[in-house]
Amino acid sequence: MTEQFDYTTTEHVVGPEAADPAAEETVFDERVRAEARLIVERYPESRSALLPMLHLVQSVQGHVTAEGMRFCAEQLALSTAEVNAVATFYTMYKRQPCGQFLVSVCTNTLCAAMGGDEIYRALSEELEAGHEETAGTPGAEGSVTLEHAECLAACDFAPVLQVNYEYFDNQTVAGALETVRALRRGERRSPTRGAPLTDFRDTERQLAGFFDGPGAEEAATASAAAPETVRGADQARERGWTAPPMPEEVELPPIPDKK
Ligand code: FES
Repeated sequence: MTEQFDYTTTEHVVGPEAADPAAEETVFDERVRAEARLIVERYPESRSALLPMLHLVQSVQGHVTAEGMRFCAEQLALSTAEVNAVATFYTMYKRQPCGQFLVSVCTNTLCAAMGGDEIYRALSEELEAGHEETAGTPGAEGSVTLEHAECLAACDFAPVLQVNYEYFDNQTVAGALETVRALRRGERRSPTRGAPLTDFRDTERQLAGFFDGPGAEEAATASAAAPETVRGADQARERGWTAPPMPEEVELPPIPDKK
């Protein structure tokens, strides 16, 4: 499939190879189209389905391709420019083929100070890969894509990393290296909490809302909430503390006129 895409217009540019409808069929076949319709049915407005739809594309292709963006645009009656704007804004949508495992090392302030920078450096050397680069052939057994990530919302367990969005808390350089070496051998280490590891594409399928692949049953019921994180909520429940009720109506401050 020709990856021709003009990001400056609302029209997609179709090269001779990309225009071949048979080629389109091979990837986004009737099954995927039916799943896309199921996603759309979840929302009152079809355009609201774009985020899970992009995850569906990644579950099929391992990243978001120009073809995948055209597929979303067609399904949701959006322009390819609108789809592109969303796909390039969120870091969870990958523009390069992803490995079997995506390793995200938090290098935001707290994790960086607690050792996240050293962990990222060590993994980068081990994998001979930089940000969003893959050791091994993307998608093949044992392939690992490395990325540094902004705050992963687990600062109480800094430094943290995620593998396919599952948490590995309180990391050390040695422990992170061990985990990544195991992944390269095709072994799946158990995350600190949450669901067992699945392949990147299977994880993406779950993020699209389909819990029918490998590990999906566990993922549907697993809780990633650590006792430390929800301790405040637990204590409030035990002591009967509640927040004051929300008023029926809240008076908002007037919006100043535009000058
Ligand atoms: S700074 Fe790393 S999880 Fe928040």
